[in-house]
Amino acid sequence: MSEPTPKGKATDRPGVVLREHVFDGIEEYDQKLPNWWLFTLYIMIVFFVIYWFLYYQVGMFASDAERIDAKIAVIDQKRDAQLQEMLATLDDKSLWEMSRDSARVEAGHAIFAGKCVACHGEDLSGYNAEGGKLAGQPLNDTEWLYGGNPMDVFNTISNGSPNLLSGMIPWKNMMSPADVAKVTAFVMSHHKEGEEWTKGTPTAPVAAPAEAAAPAAAPAEPPKP
Ligand code: HEC
Repeated sequence: MSEPTPKGKATDRPGVVLREHVFDGIEEYDQKLPNWWLFTLYIMIVFFVIYWFLYYQVGMFASDAERIDAKIAVIDQKRDAQLQEMLATLDDKSLWEMSRDSARVEAGHAIFAGKCVACHGEDLSGYNAEGGKLAGQPLNDTEWLYGGNPMDVFNTISNGSPNLLSGMIPWKNMMSPADVAKVTAFVMSHHKEGEEWTKGTPTAPVAAPAEAAAPAAAPAEPPKP
């Protein structure tokens, strides 16, 4: 196919020439690339131009990241719908049921271990393992400051203590209602449905006398998110 170029040295194969240079005794044929090979190269170039144009200029096809985002958005939407459904049916009865559902209680335990043990203790007693008093209220007794029905507990966790200095913050800012429900289920799993509870009186915060409420003297530790 290829004509011998004037520069080439003829070889014993017809139409094949050797280039003039020699590197360490290595010689090089001067051959035309096979057409089928060149053809794939040209196809690639054309493909690249079309691909680059449609993907990066026109934006005709969604990128992988966009497709994944869209799928996640659908999942989130479903989850939100389920959540709304759950919140609509959330009451003392369903929370008591959740408190007997080991999967939910386990999930609630994990949340409790991450966000609540520091103040309420591993065993919910309000004391740490060494017997030191923690900042939080005991949650395993039958005296409740803000009500001991599961929905009361849910609302206390969700909205926090009315006493802003107590350190019991509105947890709805830090977690989803579903997670609040799970951690409520965990707390209620330490109680029996129908048990009697009494209303305790919140103790006034030590460092907040009404007349000299200096915010700097607030005893609340910043909660760990
Ligand atoms: C920074 C310390 C702190 C953290 C963290 C904390 N709490 Fe509390 N919690 C308190 C204090 C203090 C009170 C008592 C509030 C009061 O006296 O008004 C309280 C009260 C409560 C009550 C009401 C008890 C009652 O007798 O009515 C519940 C329920 C409760 N916490 C659950 C939780 C849960 C669940 C978490 C984790 C998501 C949590 N707390 C995290 C400090 C904390």
